[in-house]
Amino acid sequence: MTRFAGIFLFAALAAPPVLAQSAGGTAAAPDLATGRQLYEQSCGVCHTKPLINSGRFGPALSRESLGGQADVMAQVISEGVPRMPGFKHHFSQGQIRSIVAYVQTLAPPPPDAPPTARTSGERRDDN
Ligand code: HEC
Repeated sequence: MTRFAGIFLFAALAAPPVLAQSAGGTAAAPDLATGRQLYEQSCGVCHTKPLINSGRFGPALSRESLGGQADVMAQVISEGVPRMPGFKHHFSQGQIRSIVAYVQTLAPPPPDAPPTARTSGERRDDN
C-alpha cells in the first residue's frame, strides 16, 4: 500500500499543473469561438502571415503541430518556448484549452507550397 501511495504521489507531483487541472475536470469545456478569438488576438501576430508575401515569426500552426498532442500544445502555450512567451498568467487553463481546440481545427499548410525568397530565409530549422 505504501508503495502504491508513493507511486501515486510521484505521478501527482510529476504532472504539470495544466494536466492536473484537466484531470480534475474543473477546467471549462473548450470553446472554439473563444479559442479562435484569443488566437487571432494573441497568437496570429507571430503564427500567421497577414499577407501572402509577408514574413512569419513562428511556425504555422495546425492540428499536426507537436504531433497533434493537445496536452503538449497546452504546455507550450502555458510555459512558452525560447522565442515565445508563456501565457499562463495571461489566460486561464480553460482559455488555453479553447485555443488548443481551435488550433486543432486548422489544416496543415500545403506541403508543396513553393518557398519564396522571403519565407525560405525565415524557416526555423536554424535553431
Ligand atoms: C512573440 C511571437 C509569438 C507569439 C505571440 C506566440 N508564439 Fe507560439 N511560437 C513562437 C515561435 C518563434 C515558436 C517556435 C519555437 C521557438 O523557436 O522557440 C512558437 C512555437 C509555438 C508552438 C509549437 C509549434 C511547433 O510545431 O513546435 C505552438 C503550439 C505555439 N507556438 C502556439 C502559440 C499560441 C497558441 C499562441 C497564442 C496564445 C502563441 N503561440 C503565441 C512565437 C510566438
